[in-house]
Amino acid sequence: MDRTLVEILAAKRDGGTLAEAEVHRLITSFTDGALADYQMAAFLMAVFFRGLDDVETVALTEAMLHSGSVLDLAAVPGTKVDKHSTGGVGDKVSICLAPLVAACGVPVPMVSGRGLGHTGGTLDKLEAIPGFRTDMSTADFSRIVGEIGTCMIGQTKDIAPADKRIYALRDVTATVESIPLIVASILSKKLAEGIDGLVLDVKVGRGAFMKDEKRARDLADKLVRVGTRAGKKVVAILTRMDAPLGRSVGNANETREALEVLHGKGPADLVECTLVLGAEMLVLGGKAKDTTEATSTLRAAIASGAAIRVMERMVAAQGGDAKVVAEPSRLEVAKEIVEVRSPRAGFVSDIDALAIGLAGVAMGAGRTRADQKVDPAVGIEIDRKPGEPVQVGEVVARIFVRTRSAADHVLERIAGAFSYADVAPAPAPLVIDRLSL
Ligand code: URA
Repeated sequence: MDRTLVEILAAKRDGGTLAEAEVHRLITSFTDGALADYQMAAFLMAVFFRGLDDVETVALTEAMLHSGSVLDLAAVPGTKVDKHSTGGVGDKVSICLAPLVAACGVPVPMVSGRGLGHTGGTLDKLEAIPGFRTDMSTADFSRIVGEIGTCMIGQTKDIAPADKRIYALRDVTATVESIPLIVASILSKKLAEGIDGLVLDVKVGRGAFMKDEKRARDLADKLVRVGTRAGKKVVAILTRMDAPLGRSVGNANETREALEVLHGKGPADLVECTLVLGAEMLVLGGKAKDTTEATSTLRAAIASGAAIRVMERMVAAQGGDAKVVAEPSRLEVAKEIVEVRSPRAGFVSDIDALAIGLAGVAMGAGRTRADQKVDPAVGIEIDRKPGEPVQVGEVVARIFVRTRSAADHVLERIAGAFSYADVAPAPAPLVIDRLSL
């Protein structure tokens, strides 16, 4: 005889394994109102302590995925591949990556998020482009992916609605940190895009969601196993997020920097992150036999201007001012500049990404509540990255604000984010590991 919903909760509480059908029943009962919020909260706490095995996690992912609609991109030829980052400071990779990979023939349907907490969000950065719309209908989204190769929108109401409600409960029941719950949350939303493959950028370090390498590795491992069991091609790359990625933190300035990458410029770490993730996407998409060949293809798409042309078409299709793509300096950044200077000579040895991210939020570049608006024009530019030499009194960072006094309350925090040493620190490789099955 079938177990009742309360018996299912008790089974997980006691460390038992749930049948796939039971996990599905929990989620459908939750979405149709038969299972109350407090019962779901009890389930989440039971999972927090007892975990879910891979079969249970696939069942949870699929139940959450099918709580909403799944995009059908069957009419778009080719293997559709997306990238998801667990979030970091200065992480604007999606903005240059999606058009670049699309220019190489792999369609990239990308549903992104907004900034929350100390990390920024792709949608906020893209909306710094005048007119750019991220609230397209799913029909327009599919059409643009088909015509141009990529489209970047926000989560619609019908993408994994169960995740939204469950996430809200996790937030207030101290259960956000559970790895199986994170995996089901991330994958349910990504699989709703109608993708065939997914490259995950799992960030590790002070500025990341996962501060510690062991937990980041456990998360990456489970994302790969569960995503693969769900029938997708999945690769995870562990990348370092101790210092901000690139030199810009904000919105308009980050979009500028991402566009610079498509012009063959941009800071080395941002270019590297884009190429490493892009190469995996081309291999999953069947456009290169290995990552070496894929990297050459990506570089060629930058050099030929093909990637820029895709970006221009995508921006125009989404209502944005496409002129900013050719001329990123058209993107408005705040006019008042407050400089942060080095107190000593030597080398910058470290920059605390968390402190920089929090300063960005305090300046209005990010938000602490989902309903807040961000100021696209404010931000921080890093003039000296870890490993770079500096003289006493030289500028290490610049704060872009609307009025000089707006920098007063963040100046100390930004200055304090920099550490110095007499000798250059040993270089810390951006890529820590690659995981696949
Ligand atoms: N991002 C998500 O989408 N869900 C989580 O649970 C954590 C990070």
